[in-house]
Amino acid sequence: MQLAAVVLAAGKGTRMKSATVKVLHQVCGRAMIEHVLAAVQETGVQKTVLVIGQQGEQVMELLGSRVEYARQDEQLGTAHALMQTRPVLEGLADDVLVVCGDTPLLRPQTLAELCRRHKAGNNAATVLTAILNDPAGYGRVIRSTDGMVQKIVEQKDAAPDELAVQEVNTGVYCFRLPGLFEALAALQPNNAQGEYYLTDIIGYYADRGASVGAVAVDDPADVAGVNDRCQLAAAEKILRRRVLERVMLSGVTVLDPDNTYIDTTASIGMDTVIYPFTFVEGKSKIGENCIIGPASRLVDTDLGCRVTVQNSVVVGSSIGDGCNIGPFAYIRPGCVLGREVKVGDFVELKKAFLGDGTKVPHLSYVGDADVGKAVNIGAGTITCNYDGQKKSVTRIGDGAFIGSNTNLVAPLEVGTGAVTGAGSTITRDVPPGALGVARDKQKNIPDWSTRRKRPCAQNKSE
Ligand code: UD1
Ligand code: CA
Repeated sequence: MQLAAVVLAAGKGTRMKSATVKVLHQVCGRAMIEHVLAAVQETGVQKTVLVIGQQGEQVMELLGSRVEYARQDEQLGTAHALMQTRPVLEGLADDVLVVCGDTPLLRPQTLAELCRRHKAGNNAATVLTAILNDPAGYGRVIRSTDGMVQKIVEQKDAAPDELAVQEVNTGVYCFRLPGLFEALAALQPNNAQGEYYLTDIIGYYADRGASVGAVAVDDPADVAGVNDRCQLAAAEKILRRRVLERVMLSGVTVLDPDNTYIDTTASIGMDTVIYPFTFVEGKSKIGENCIIGPASRLVDTDLGCRVTVQNSVVVGSSIGDGCNIGPFAYIRPGCVLGREVKVGDFVELKKAFLGDGTKVPHLSYVGDADVGKAVNIGAGTITCNYDGQKKSVTRIGDGAFIGSNTNLVAPLEVGTGAVTGAGSTITRDVPPGALGVARDKQKNIPDWSTRRKRPCAQNKSE
């Protein structure tokens, strides 16, 4: 095997102040570690080993068998972490690419270029560096007067002149595998943190005359590490911008990229227009010529073409071509809408199938319902789907007309072309073509208002 990869992700992530492992924190809708793995795997590595620590189960739950694992039970430092891969990797590959799990902005091109230069230089180690205006927090790359990399010094161990160095270690390396574990075994934790630093291997090799290379990254933003929530927000912002640029360059209009949030995993078709304060999350897929927003949220939702969604939330549903959603609709998981369906203001849907051309224009709750084509559901209609113990289904046939403010007490079937009278509480099936009315007959009381007003006449004259 030519190239293996190791992702270090066993650190406690203390600075995140979180019950969740650091690398599972999300950036643009995807765990940091998934971003890193995607970049690593696109580099063409033949095997990836993830070093996990105490809460590693959380990570394994997410990634399953997509990678191999090595455990680091005690967090004794990055060199110690890499050492844990010895049983899985020793003798297996020519070189190993090492990255940290907390650098979600890494690009595959950058990793590929590092590996290429490592090979070309026939190096024992090649480190990816970045020149930063503000190098605070990173290890500094110390070069000799002739420009050769001598060592890496961590911020906490650096002398004042070393602190002034702006070239930093990105935590990404390519190592020649033969000899790597022997070198790691020789490192000592003689530093401010009492840890086995992987960075010390650079000095170790340089001291022994082994060839050490350094490749500076083009855009320092690519290698930003996330150690706390401020850096998480900074990474989110950079990645969000990248995603938006990709989306815009593929033919989508985004009115205000600073206020639009699209996950890396979402896809959007050509000539769709996104208004501000819109979130497109998870595996959402939007077709062409849609108008989305303002202020809308789509989560794991499929939209056809020519759909409009205004000020609405749609979760885990599928919306056909030409549908018109909102403003102020809430479509909960499990809904499937045909073509040209209208779901208007203050309508909530849950697990509802609405056939082509059906309209729920306003103020309704339709849940656990199977509604045919060209049905009109009047304002204020409620499917009473829950009796306190179980949920039941309401079926409405094609072309039915549900009068305003109908309560449809499920389980219930309203037949094809049937009608319900406004204000009815329908508890029994309505046969096809029939009118179902269930409300009191109207009674008019003559002169009621004049009689009622009499006692107040006095007040009026005051
Ligand atoms: C590290 C580098 C620093 C570099 C920076 C880049 C060292 C000593 N320092 O610092 O030079 O500028 O990354 O972002 O390597 N980890 C383990 N086991 C451990 C300790 C850490 O698996 O015992 C993992 C962490 O989960 C993390 C990565 O290694 O993914 C880096 O650890 P972190 O503590 O974030 O190191 P930095 O202080 O950022
Ligand atoms: Ca870090």
